[in-house]
Amino acid sequence: MANIEEDEGTRRDFLFYATGGAAAVGTGAAVWPLINQMNPSADVKALASIRVDVSEVEPGTQLTVKWLGKPVFIRRRTEAEIDEAKNVNLDELLDNMARNDNIPEASADDTNRSLDESGEWLVMMGVCTHLGCVPLGDGAGEFNGWFCPCHGSHYDTSGRIRKGPAPENLAVPPAVFVDDTTIKLG
Ligand code: FES
Repeated sequence: MANIEEDEGTRRDFLFYATGGAAAVGTGAAVWPLINQMNPSADVKALASIRVDVSEVEPGTQLTVKWLGKPVFIRRRTEAEIDEAKNVNLDELLDNMARNDNIPEASADDTNRSLDESGEWLVMMGVCTHLGCVPLGDGAGEFNGWFCPCHGSHYDTSGRIRKGPAPENLAVPPAVFVDDTTIKLG
């Protein structure tokens, strides 16, 4: 991953491959073996790490980006959302693990799920842990976070499962702020 950033800049790589991917869809599956044959390792590396500009994301709104073919929710939480997440008694949770790739084995305390110390930024896979639907956001569900309408799973403002068939909290992918307004995924 580090090589990509040093050599070319990840953002440019991502744009290039995003364009290449769109072309492949239009011209048929036969394009893929050719791309893979030409440069398999670069293809995989470029998709494995992307940078996201979050400078336009206002508090109380969410950006959804695609990473490794899946949606990722990047939410800038309001004070009320943060307070609500922090004030939950951990005994009430259905899944006590943070499910955060950045800190494996951590508890589901909100501070172990948010990206920054203030708790303003929450980055999660937009994939329901039940059967993989994309949950609705913007305060949806009984716990004001996300709601998966497929079978009725409710997630709170920290993306933790609170009600319904989903077995785990929404997964937090490898993510880090590389500067004030850029988040690197992967
Ligand atoms: S896939 Fe989300 S509740 Fe079943």
